[in-house]
Amino acid sequence: METITFHSYRGGVGKTLLSVNTAVKLALSGKKVCLVDFDLRAPSHQSLFASSTFSVSHATKSFTGFLVGDHGPESVINSTNMDNFHCVFSNIEILQQKESKIRTKLTQHGEGRILAKLFEFIRYCNSQEFDFLIFDCMPGITYRSLDALVVSDKIMVVTRPVKSEISGLRLVISECYSKLEGAKLFSIMNQVEQIEDLVHTPNPLDVNLVKVNILGITKCLEESSTSIPLLHTFPRIPFVTERIYVLDEKEHPFSTEIDIFCTKLLQ
Ligand SMILES: Nc1ncnc2c1ncn2[C@@H]1O[C@H](COP(=O)(O)OP(=O)(O)OP(=O)(O)O)[C@@H](O)[C@H]1O
Ligand SMILES: [Mg+2]
Repeated sequence: METITFHSYRGGVGKTLLSVNTAVKLALSGKKVCLVDFDLRAPSHQSLFASSTFSVSHATKSFTGFLVGDHGPESVINSTNMDNFHCVFSNIEILQQKESKIRTKLTQHGEGRILAKLFEFIRYCNSQEFDFLIFDCMPGITYRSLDALVVSDKIMVVTRPVKSEISGLRLVISECYSKLEGAKLFSIMNQVEQIEDLVHTPNPLDVNLVKVNILGITKCLEESSTSIPLLHTFPRIPFVTERIYVLDEKEHPFSTEIDIFCTKLLQ
């Protein structure tokens, strides 16, 4: 089994859209996949899956509850109407209800207790013969995102070529990715403006700005002492929303990009 985490320094770069579509596509291609909503502070998968043609067989308990020891790993994995695809939801209510106790457990260092729970979950998924365990991680450098990075075999560093991203990326490489041992790091550049679309806009300076930002991210990745090869570049596709394109709209340009990305992942 391979554990893959989608991570970024900044929020809103596309981790959820990419990880969900990647996980479903891998399952469609015959792999047994478990996708975990590991954005504990702002989980979104449950509502995303509710709005798709997907159906989750039965409601299970939350990953948040598993992490704090309320129940075992077997009770958090949802089966779906796709044989190979299983998903695990996090629960924001649990944080709100038992606010202080649970929040403290989930946000503090905790002497590696949550890390141990993640390893326990990985062992369980291994025993269930999953091919892929995919974490859609919360952004930034937090104790919990570090835990997810530490347990991963592969990390997909999702970036977006905007100016404000570059300094953040530099920081997360030096403070975080460079200290990881064993995991293979890859980068994804997402929401890249298509130059062909932009040359028709009134301001040609925009074209230059897009090129400068792409170059900035590329240099940042290449110049770091930690090797983070660029695995795929996803164009910014107008009107892309939070959907499972690979299932609902197989011919959509975003589905085509996910197909190519998954082929690279499986190589
Ligand atoms: N390639 C793309 N083209 C156009 N829109 C995109 C693309 N990728 C993502 N988006 C849009 O960008 C927004 C943010 O995406 P998403 O929620 O997946 O980011 P995220 O990294 O998971 O954010 P967060 O860190 O807040 O969880 C969404 O509205 C999504 O539909
Ligand atoms: Mg997200």
